[in-house]
Amino acid sequence: MRIGVFCSGGDAPGMNACVRAVVRTALLHGHQVVGIQRGYQGLLDEEFYHNKNGEALMTPHCVAGWAQYGGAFLKSSRCDEFRTREGQEKAASILRKHQIDALIPIGGDGTFHGAVALADVWDGLIVGCPGTIDNDLIGTDYTIGFSTAVQTAVDCVDKVHDTADSHDRMFLIEVMGRHSGYIAAYTGISTGGEILAIPETPTDFPEIVAKLNELKQRGKTSILMIVAEGDEEGGAEILNEQLKKHDCPFPTRVLVLGHLQRGGTPTPEDRRRASHMGYGAVTALMRGETGVMIGTQNDACVSVPFETTYAEHRAIPQQLLDLVDTLAS
Ligand code: F6P
Repeated sequence: MRIGVFCSGGDAPGMNACVRAVVRTALLHGHQVVGIQRGYQGLLDEEFYHNKNGEALMTPHCVAGWAQYGGAFLKSSRCDEFRTREGQEKAASILRKHQIDALIPIGGDGTFHGAVALADVWDGLIVGCPGTIDNDLIGTDYTIGFSTAVQTAVDCVDKVHDTADSHDRMFLIEVMGRHSGYIAAYTGISTGGEILAIPETPTDFPEIVAKLNELKQRGKTSILMIVAEGDEEGGAEILNEQLKKHDCPFPTRVLVLGHLQRGGTPTPEDRRRASHMGYGAVTALMRGETGVMIGTQNDACVSVPFETTYAEHRAIPQQLLDLVDTLAS
C-alpha cells in the first residue's frame, strides 16, 4: 500500500509523534508512506515531504527524533478550497495520479468531515487519528495534544495564582476550546480555580457574584476563574465586563492564554498516545478498515466511524463539574 499521511486543522503537540509512528509501522510492514504537507491544502497543491534523496517518500530516518517536538513538521492548515465538491474531486484525482491507496489524516472534526466528503469521490481507504487540543471528539478518551495544552494552561495559571494572591485580585483566565470546556475543566481542577465558565453549563452572572460574595465573606482574598473561549456568554473579556456590571466584589484582571496552548514540548502522555494511535491507524488500514478514526478507550485502540466522532457534543462528566464546586467550597 502507498499511504498518505497529513496533519490538518489546528496543530497539536504530539502530531509529530503520530506521523513518526505511522511511518515506522507502515515501512516495517512493507508499505510506502507519502508525507503530505499543509493538510488538505497541500494535497491540492501537490506539496509532499521529500527525503534526503529527493524522493516524495518518507524513510524511517525522516522521522528520527520527531516524537519530542511540538508543532507539525508536515505543517498544518485549514483549507476552504477543499470544502467544495470541486476541491474534493481535484484531491481525488491527485491521489490517483500519485497512486496513493490510503490516507491517514490527523486532525479534529473539520478534518474528519473532509475525510467523509473525500470518501464520496475517492475509493481509497481512509483511517484518521484524533489530533486536536480540544479533546472534543466522541469515541476516544483522549485527543492528541490535550495533555500538553492542559499542562501549559496549568503552568500559566499557577504563575498567575501568585500575583492574584499578592494583590488580592480575581483573574479571569481564558483557555482554548472553541465548543468545549474540557481544557478549562481539567485546568480548573488542577489549579484550584474557584469558578468555571464553560459551554456545557449555563453561565449565570448573579449566581457567580453571589458565590464570590460568599467566598469573600469566608476570607478569600483572591480568585481564579477559568473561562473556556467557547463559553456561551463569550470569552473572558466579555465575562469580565458582565461581572463588573453585576458588582463583582473583587478587582479583576483578564488573561487570554490563546495559541500558547497549541505549542511546546509534548507531554509523555501525548507522545505515547499519539504513537499508539498512529500505529493503530496503519494496522487498521492493513485489516482493510476505512471511514474510521482510531481512538483510544481504556488504553486500547478502537475504530470509530468518522460520522460518530462529530455527531454530537462530547459532554463533560458531571462528576468532574461537581468536583470543581466541591474543591472551591
Ligand atoms: O481546534 C483547536 C483550536 O485551538 C481551538 O481551541 C481554537 O478555537 C481554534 O483551534 C483556533 O484556531 P485558529 O488557530 O485557526 O485561530
